[in-house]
Amino acid sequence: EEIYVNDEEVKKLMQCLPKTNLKGAINPTQMVLYEGFWYFTNSTLFRNVLTLQKHFVARDDDIFITGFPKTGTTWLKSLLFAVVNRQNHPIINQISPLLTHHPQELVCNLESDVYDEAFEYPRPHHLNKVPSPRLFSTHIPYTSLPNSIKTSRCRILYICRNPLDTLVSLYYFYLGFMKNMANDGEDFVQPTLLEDIFEDFCQGKILFGPFFEHVLEFWNSSLERPDKVLFLKYEDLKHDLTPQLKRLAEFIGMPFSTREENEGVIRQIVDFCDIKNMKELDANKSGVINKFFEKKSYFRKGEVGDWTNHFTPAMVEKMNKLMEENFKGSGLSF
Ligand code: A3P
Repeated sequence: EEIYVNDEEVKKLMQCLPKTNLKGAINPTQMVLYEGFWYFTNSTLFRNVLTLQKHFVARDDDIFITGFPKTGTTWLKSLLFAVVNRQNHPIINQISPLLTHHPQELVCNLESDVYDEAFEYPRPHHLNKVPSPRLFSTHIPYTSLPNSIKTSRCRILYICRNPLDTLVSLYYFYLGFMKNMANDGEDFVQPTLLEDIFEDFCQGKILFGPFFEHVLEFWNSSLERPDKVLFLKYEDLKHDLTPQLKRLAEFIGMPFSTREENEGVIRQIVDFCDIKNMKELDANKSGVINKFFEKKSYFRKGEVGDWTNHFTPAMVEKMNKLMEENFKGSGLSF
């Protein structure tokens, strides 16, 4: 059976979907609204999403890292990998694959890595040979997750982050990405302005957006099914990682024993995954992922509140109002 949805099918579907143009981002970029969320029309990503919706089959012991882009998913990948593999690859012995591989290579993204024909990852038809527990990541909103992820007993970790910090992070990521595309001779129109991305964002127009819907769907599913969806906040992880890491380990059914705690296993993982350490590893310093994404671009400042250096008071006020409106009654805040 053909594993990829063919281009004709994608084109046909796209013709029927609502479209919009962005002010910011990689100009000029059009997006389509699919199942309530936005996707670029000029990349293979949308096709990959359709393919995996159709073909991906989750196992009961799979673990998925989900979250909006630039909310700390790389950090969570390194933490999850370290926790799951702490018996066979203890960090302390200097044999962890985290020393030789970028977290993005150890916890592959379904829509941009695994289901993209152009890249060398476990191919979709080899996924059944990957040993358990399989670790994957995805930015797909809850609504659009393949059915078997929702219905099987697999677990979902969701990470969210203050939208202003997320936007700043996205902005710098875009700049690096666009520079690399330009160097490669790809169409490069003009540098993206943070103001434009902000405007689009406020209208919900951003890849995998609207942001607030994305967050709220996972938040609500974590309330309805706390054994299935664990909701984490970047800010909480930064504030005090140890209790959050214990929560994570318990949630995935691999709690830390008292002995492990006494032996400093938690401390080792926390310290190892610190951005200052991760940044300095050769595996994360040079090279690219999927052609245009520099490995080092996934580690920038890693701070809470960098937004204070980037937005005007009016913009901050606008975002605060949006947060208030959207999170009202949900119990969520930043
Ligand atoms: P900044 O650009 O604000 O520094 P993602 O991994 O989802 O793409 O998110 C990237 C953001 O997470 C970047 O934020 C990056 O610096 C930060 N980050 C990456 N690794 C981190 C770590 N180990 N600890 C804290 N933040 C980290």
